[in-house]
Amino acid sequence: LGSIEIDVSKVAEGQQLKVLWRGAPVFVRHRTATEIAEAESVDLAVLPDPATDDSRLVAGPDGALKPQYLVQVGVCTHFGCVPVGEAGDYDGWYCPCHGSHYDTSGRIRKGPAPRNLLVPPYEYVSDTVIKVG
Ligand code: FES
Repeated sequence: LGSIEIDVSKVAEGQQLKVLWRGAPVFVRHRTATEIAEAESVDLAVLPDPATDDSRLVAGPDGALKPQYLVQVGVCTHFGCVPVGEAGDYDGWYCPCHGSHYDTSGRIRKGPAPRNLLVPPYEYVSDTVIKVG
């Protein structure tokens, strides 16, 4: 109990799936090549909560990272609102409650939120299915 399986192959490129996990929304974003490139090209020195894009990903069964799938808890790290996808100044998520902007890696870039969107514990149980929790 407490874990869920998600078939990520059902999420089209450029789309986001929202599922509930332990009462919280989890976002599964199938990122475009542009979004991945944006996430990878950021200078860590400008990040309030520095983290590489790779550090926010999980390897598939073949041991390689899958940068196309970004999995995060969809709860703003400020006061817990649910951010809106494909919004904000950094093409990622925007929290309308007090104006926090997250980038295409879910890292906080601007606004009052102190931390990046949380990456939940998860693993790939096959090439296209992840288990969260
Ligand atoms: Fe998201 Fe305050 S809860 S900016």
